[in-house]
Amino acid sequence: MLFGLLRSSLPSEFFEGACDMHSHLLPGVDDGFPDFEKAMEGLSLMKELGYAKVKMTPHFMKDFQENTRTNIETQYKSFLTQAGDSLPVEISLGGEYMLDSCFMDRFEEGFLTLDRTHSMVLCETSYMNADPMAREMVYKIMLKGYQPVIAHPERYNYASMGLYNRWKERDYMLQLNLLSLAGAYGPPAKAKAHQLLKAGMYDYVGTDLHRVANVDSMIASIRLSTKERDQLEILLENNKTL
Ligand SMILES: [Fe+2]
Repeated sequence: MLFGLLRSSLPSEFFEGACDMHSHLLPGVDDGFPDFEKAMEGLSLMKELGYAKVKMTPHFMKDFQENTRTNIETQYKSFLTQAGDSLPVEISLGGEYMLDSCFMDRFEEGFLTLDRTHSMVLCETSYMNADPMAREMVYKIMLKGYQPVIAHPERYNYASMGLYNRWKERDYMLQLNLLSLAGAYGPPAKAKAHQLLKAGMYDYVGTDLHRVANVDSMIASIRLSTKERDQLEILLENNKTL
């Protein structure tokens, strides 16, 4: 049990002033928060956790084909109007783009990016396997100056450390899902998350928040080595540059 003893929980102020760059808090547009009230609950939770800024990154994928850029921007504006001055944290809009048959349509209309220079695109694949065209699609957007940020690489069953290394060699950035460290997506994803974090492979960290249930207790259950905690602090600093 010595290994377990060398890991400790995160201090309560760990997320003070933090910026989240991946969430499904824009209500009613994907498998995340279903309505305005629940979304406000989610934003209040983020505030309680210490976060100061939250990016809403709804799914763009063939399962949600009505999520065009125009529709999502309209939904976001109406959310802002409804929230008025009652927002507990600062919010902004991005997107999470599945590398599927809709991806190039979303590219044509312009991606909702993560950063101030409008170049970083949060991309994902299915957990079981990547679309055969995924690599080519990423290559095409890189030629146009976009920087791919691969969401939750630890969750992809098909991916090995060898593939993660190749992604880094191709200059893809990697985003850790915070709750992977708590085992929220199962033991293999948890083990990979710790391995990638320790190896300094991640660039950013996000909550990928879909609902509020158990989030605080899951975060409280995270146990990190000193090296992993130092790495996580670096990721939170990187998030602040977005
Ligand atoms: Fe997500």
